[in-house]
Amino acid sequence: MSFGIDDLPVRDELRGKSPYGAPQLDVPVRLNTNENPYPLPEPLVERITERVREAARHLNRYPDRDAVELRTRLAEYLTKTAGHPVGVESVWAANGSNEVIQQLLQTFGGPGRTAIGFEPSYSMHGLISRGTGTGWISGPRNEDFTIDLAAAEKAIAEHRPDVVFVTTPNNPTGNAVPPETVLALYEAAQAAKPSMVVVDEAYIEFSHGDSLLRLIDGRPNLVVSRTMSKAFGAAGLRLGYLAAHPAVVDAVQLVRLPYHLSAITQATALAALEHTDTLLGYVEQLKAERDRLVAELRALGYEVTESDANFVQFGRFEDSHATWRKILDRGVLVRDNGVPGWLRVTTGTPAENDAFLDAVRDIKKEQSA
Ligand SMILES: Cc1ncc(COP(=O)(O)O)c(C=O)c1O
Repeated sequence: MSFGIDDLPVRDELRGKSPYGAPQLDVPVRLNTNENPYPLPEPLVERITERVREAARHLNRYPDRDAVELRTRLAEYLTKTAGHPVGVESVWAANGSNEVIQQLLQTFGGPGRTAIGFEPSYSMHGLISRGTGTGWISGPRNEDFTIDLAAAEKAIAEHRPDVVFVTTPNNPTGNAVPPETVLALYEAAQAAKPSMVVVDEAYIEFSHGDSLLRLIDGRPNLVVSRTMSKAFGAAGLRLGYLAAHPAVVDAVQLVRLPYHLSAITQATALAALEHTDTLLGYVEQLKAERDRLVAELRALGYEVTESDANFVQFGRFEDSHATWRKILDRGVLVRDNGVPGWLRVTTGTPAENDAFLDAVRDIKKEQSA
């Protein structure tokens, strides 16, 4: 027998667990990881090249440890798009919002502490909790995937978690959480502990509603987490950020690795932020395509969860994995998130969405034949 993980002295809570792993299969149409289907526009590619060339001249030096220029531009972006003034001292950036979440859990979670999320939701909240030694509590949702507020308040009062995750729009279900619900959860979390409430807004640019950024004023235990992986079409860049009270930004600096954001990352993100208007133009196209997917799936007789994101949850299937396979056999990769009866499709280009719709139409036809 070959030597494996279990033969190593790994931490007990990691034994028998699987790493995060959305399949990266080589198929014609990949609609499974909620990426933006549009490659960056050529003028932006040029600008990135220029900025990276300049940064390369200084790679003998460590990068700006506090990424001040980048955080300033991110604060300007938030101020402009969320209609609420945000200063550089309220913004922090890291390698993807996953790293932001990890830093938050290293700061406010950890051994002997717990975090709660309302599932199904973004699985990395639980996985990063485990990785940082934070106990994970799976909170409830209603049948229709909205947060069951009474049950959530009860769970918070009972478990008194140190960190509460609220994902809006939620992944994988797509629905947004009403601001009143977030406020009620915040109040419940403060009454119970007080604890940090992390609002994960990875998909907020695709939403019909507004960002909850304005809620951070006067609520020092509220954090809004964001990413350039989705709306900015820059998943390969690895750039996430948060907005919160400046004390939160000071606190996460206690755990960040020195020089965690490379000069190349900072230069690339700055170039992308110069092209915000073009990139947000793609978001409008994707929102229209998302709405088309919802309408056409419903017309085909599928159940669809209301979507404020760049993906759509559809069902119901007796055996969702078998349907996932049938769609894959037709050259389209969607996501089986393990939500019984449901699958998730990311909005692609119009041609990719047509390929997906043809595949599910064909499966319906096969079933009724
Ligand atoms: C809800 C949510 N938060 C965070 C992330 C992670 O994004 P990033 O690429 O910034 O690490 C994702 C990625 O799919 C997500 O769905």
